[in-house]
Amino acid sequence: MTNQTENLPLEENKYTFAAASDSVKEGEMIDIFLGKETVVLARVDGSVYAVDGICSHAYSEMVDGELEDHCLYCPLHFACFDIRDGSVLEGPAVTPLSVYDVMEQDGSIWIKALDIYGE
Ligand code: FES
Repeated sequence: MTNQTENLPLEENKYTFAAASDSVKEGEMIDIFLGKETVVLARVDGSVYAVDGICSHAYSEMVDGELEDHCLYCPLHFACFDIRDGSVLEGPAVTPLSVYDVMEQDGSIWIKALDIYGE
């Protein structure tokens, strides 16, 4: 789907389209590309969360990991990150994943544009 808000100024474009709601099923995750960022979208207990798609420990694509409740396990060294706030729950990673502000409305998932594109 085309992001129809892509060309609006950021002050008007507070959220940018990320994915259709039905593409992120309960307990599952997908990765998307926005700007220069790879972002993982995951749905847990009905809520959608968005975090960095690349592990903060070394280069690993988080979408290839496992999601257990709110714990997102990295596929490479198995660090566990809390999908809600990006915090490290189990090492070896020590740096949290960045999290993005998510809004879900009318069958679409949106991410705060300034989180992705900066100021
Ligand atoms: S690359 Fe993710 S824990 Fe090492």
